[in-house]
Amino acid sequence: MAIERTFSIVKPDAVARDLIGKVYSRFESAGLKIVASKMIHMTKEQAEGFYGEHKERPFFPNLVEFMTSGPVMVQVLEGDNAIAKNREIMGATNPAEAAAGTIRHDFAKSIDANSVHGSDAPASAAREIAYFFEESEIFSR
Ligand code: PPS
Repeated sequence: MAIERTFSIVKPDAVARDLIGKVYSRFESAGLKIVASKMIHMTKEQAEGFYGEHKERPFFPNLVEFMTSGPVMVQVLEGDNAIAKNREIMGATNPAEAAAGTIRHDFAKSIDANSVHGSDAPASAAREIAYFFEESEIFSR
C-alpha cells in the first residue's frame, strides 16, 4: 500500500471539550503518524478560502461561523492509505449516522460541530496541507 499524507482538523467543539489528546490517540492507534501539528484560530477569510468549494451551499455561513468560533488543531497525518483510513476512523459527516467506535460517533454533537475534518481525496489533501503548512514544517519519519 502507498504511504500517503492527509490533512486533518480537530474542530472547535472538540478543542473546547479538551478532546485533542483523545482524537490524536485515535490517529496514532490507527497507524496514522502526526507529522505536523499546530493550534490556530482561523480568520473568516481563511475559513472561507478553505471551504471555498462549498460557498454556494446553504450551510456555508454556518460552517464558516462555526470554524472561526474558537481555536482548532490542524495536522498532517501520514501512513498507508492515510486518506481513506482517516475518513474511516472519523465516521460519517453526520454523527447520528456514524458507525460505533468512530471519532464522530464517540465525540461529536451535530453535523456542524462534528469534531474533525479530513481530506477526501489526494488532490484535496495536497491543497489543504499546502493551505496551512510549509513543507519545512512537516516531519516524515
Ligand atoms: S459534501 O457534499 O459531501 O462535500 O459535503 P459534506 O462533506 O457533507 O459537508 C462539507 C462540510 O460542511 C459541513 N456541513 C455543515 N456545516 C454546517 N451546517 C450543516 N448543515 C452542514 N452540513 C455539512 C460538514 O461538517 C463538512 O465539514 P468538513 O470540515 O469538510 O468535515
